[in-house]
Amino acid sequence: MASLILGSRSPSAWSGRSLVVGVTGAGEQVSARAASALPKATTKHLDAVLPSLDVSAKVATTTIVPAVPGLKASKVVLVGLGQDDAAEEGQSNTDSLRRAAGAAVRAAGTGSVALSLPHSDAAGLAAIAEGAASGAYAFTEHKSSPEETDDREITVFSGLDRKASPKDVIERAATVARNVAWARDLVNTAPNLLYPQSFTEQVQQVAKDSPGKLTVKVLDEKALAEGGFGGIIGVGQGSTRPPRIVSLSYKPRSRKAPHVALVGKGITFDTGGVCIKPASGMVTMKSDMAGAASVAATVVAAAELGLPVAVTGYLCLAENMPGGNAQRPGDVVTMRNGTTVEIIDTDAEGRMVLADGMALAAESGPDEILDVATLTGACVVALGPKIFGVMGNDDELRTAITASADRADEASWPLPLPTDLRSGLDSAVADIAHKGDRWGGALTAGLFLQEFATDAKGENIPWAHLDIAGPSFNEGSPWGHVPKGGTGVAVGTLVEHLASLG
Ligand code: BES
Ligand code: MN
Ligand code: ZN
Repeated sequence: MASLILGSRSPSAWSGRSLVVGVTGAGEQVSARAASALPKATTKHLDAVLPSLDVSAKVATTTIVPAVPGLKASKVVLVGLGQDDAAEEGQSNTDSLRRAAGAAVRAAGTGSVALSLPHSDAAGLAAIAEGAASGAYAFTEHKSSPEETDDREITVFSGLDRKASPKDVIERAATVARNVAWARDLVNTAPNLLYPQSFTEQVQQVAKDSPGKLTVKVLDEKALAEGGFGGIIGVGQGSTRPPRIVSLSYKPRSRKAPHVALVGKGITFDTGGVCIKPASGMVTMKSDMAGAASVAATVVAAAELGLPVAVTGYLCLAENMPGGNAQRPGDVVTMRNGTTVEIIDTDAEGRMVLADGMALAAESGPDEILDVATLTGACVVALGPKIFGVMGNDDELRTAITASADRADEASWPLPLPTDLRSGLDSAVADIAHKGDRWGGALTAGLFLQEFATDAKGENIPWAHLDIAGPSFNEGSPWGHVPKGGTGVAVGTLVEHLASLG
């Protein structure tokens, strides 16, 4: 994976292959904008050629200009930053910078790359650095002759003075980007190779190699059965590859730090079980563990950044297969917290593994529980493929999550948990059914989970639910900083949220 460094000398002295420079303005009035002033000869040349190249300032559009006077770089990659020069108003437009940096690095192709993009604060610099690393991401693990692995150094120039500690900003961005890339790798790994046990082993290895202080505990199928985790046992029993709940935790020095529990859906493949999906609905279902991947990456990032919060991630890992011992509609299972659940549809498996994970999380008395899951197609219908839904039992926490998502440039939107829909989960034979009728499918899934966000006394624990079914996997072409395939969505949001608690 590419690494990030802060440019030391001036961009004009940088003698690599591609130097990325921004473009702002509208129509014919576009002009080049860099992190610091460009040499006169450079500006003069660019001003002269911009009109004839039809250069656009539309965010993330790119134009290549070879052999620019005043620069040592072989070529300039011009990238649109939007109409108004937000940086001049004292605040960086981080979303545009992030997208532009990612698109520019992709357009630059192979070879060394440096970015000189205008920004006026640390948030702007972080967005450029994270966006650039994100744009350089490629998954070549399964190619027999992978193109050389990308261990490029991406240079990021900044005009910020020392007080803004640009070096620390770049280092933090590199940590976030590295962990986002790990979440993407997990999602992109073929499902014959990534299954509950191999996922577990990878988490153990990453925790061991990380400079952060992490501990890993594993509940295997025997421990899960003995512990009464009927939800995840039921989902996993149709597969020859047994389920696991992995808890991955990090504690800061201060014992007074708040404790956040993160619970991730980790279905390493979702066939739907005996309520089997059509082939068309199954092709992307290796990504049904994206929630667990983002949770794991977030805990590792929190440890490496030394965030002032205690974090435990619960990875609920199972494979939903229609084997001979598979769960049936009509089965009744007893969950970790004693609730009995009537199975209606074996394809609504995510909430079953999450509910057991949430019940386990609740036992440790966390200040809040956040679950992350590729939970419902209904959420994708509601919000489209780029926006994740946020639900919860605490308006303040839900609002804090969408605000953290905004700061991380991840698109999210609040969804309600209407009490009126709760009766749809009434069961004639058990305490609750796990599925209501079709309408509002994302919300009834949330209402089901809500039942498990309680402590031993039955009091609510502040809880938010992130349904990332849409943005966790990009089926289309890369755009901005977002690659095809696994995206690592929610890592940025969660890291922002955790950082805001200390
Ligand atoms: N993993 C799917 C949800 C999903 C769908 C994620 C599309 C990403 C893209 C989940 O387990 C599922 O199958 N949900 C069902 C729920 C239904 C049976 C209540 C769905 O959305 O159809
Ligand atoms: Mn399913
Ligand atoms: Zn699923």
